[in-house]
Amino acid sequence: MAQIIGGLGTSHIPAIGGAIHKGLQQEPYWKPFFDGFPPVQAWLKQAKPDVVVMFYNDHGLNFFLDKMPTFAVGAAAQYHNADEGWGIPTLAPLQGEVDLSWQIINHLIAQEFDITTCQEMLVDHACTLPLKLFWPDGECPVTVVPVCINTVQFPLPNARRVYALGRAVGDAIAAWDSTKKVAMVASGGLSHQLEGERAGFINKDFDLQFLQSLETNPEWATQFSIHELVAKTGTQGIELLAWLAMRAALAAGEGSGVRKVHSNYHIPISNTATGLLALEKLR
Ligand code: DHB
Ligand code: FE
Repeated sequence: MAQIIGGLGTSHIPAIGGAIHKGLQQEPYWKPFFDGFPPVQAWLKQAKPDVVVMFYNDHGLNFFLDKMPTFAVGAAAQYHNADEGWGIPTLAPLQGEVDLSWQIINHLIAQEFDITTCQEMLVDHACTLPLKLFWPDGECPVTVVPVCINTVQFPLPNARRVYALGRAVGDAIAAWDSTKKVAMVASGGLSHQLEGERAGFINKDFDLQFLQSLETNPEWATQFSIHELVAKTGTQGIELLAWLAMRAALAAGEGSGVRKVHSNYHIPISNTATGLLALEKLR
């Protein structure tokens, strides 16, 4: 059976792509953000996952406001990057793990999640940047299953539902007849709001409590309604739903404990409080 090795979370601000492209990682503005990654990259070199299941949100690229699935799972052989222009200018398409896509899709439908299945899917900075941050050198060494959660247009799924989705995705992976090693990735957050009266809103206290909860009390955030979470984290900070799904998936299969490999928190990059977390699944 397949093995879930752990979970990773990172923010996905598009300007990170520009910084990578221009080699600005050691500039004073960027250094506190990029300095978080080497310990995580080192752990990945040793843990060597074959596949990433990526929880993220599309930003109006593959899904627009006219058609917005609550949950969508990719089942494509390749995912082309079609970012808005801020990201990494040229990126090879991501390679899909089609067999695992269908394993997850079939399991979710059987568990009564009415997901959208995407045999063609464009991906934006939210899907591409975490891979480049975790594997900065050369070709991306993992295949991908993108799992997209609507965080952009109300009504949004609540935290409890997203936790249940993540748990079901984890169960599907644990039951996958494969010897491959799978890493869960969450892309988005932490607190930020890009528009309106609260533009620039950041909530460090909540972010740090949330990061801590993922280590020791993973269902903590499910006590809050979706409106409470938007109030606490900002209209884009609600991207933290992806982190909850990632953590829930780690509770599946043998053993439910985790060990923190590394974390980082830095304010701000652009308008966003950035978070980084790597959790190894204990068995
Ligand atoms: C920013 C953050 C995001 O999550 C995003 O998708 C786009 C922009 C920002 O802070 O600039
Ligand atoms: Fe975003």
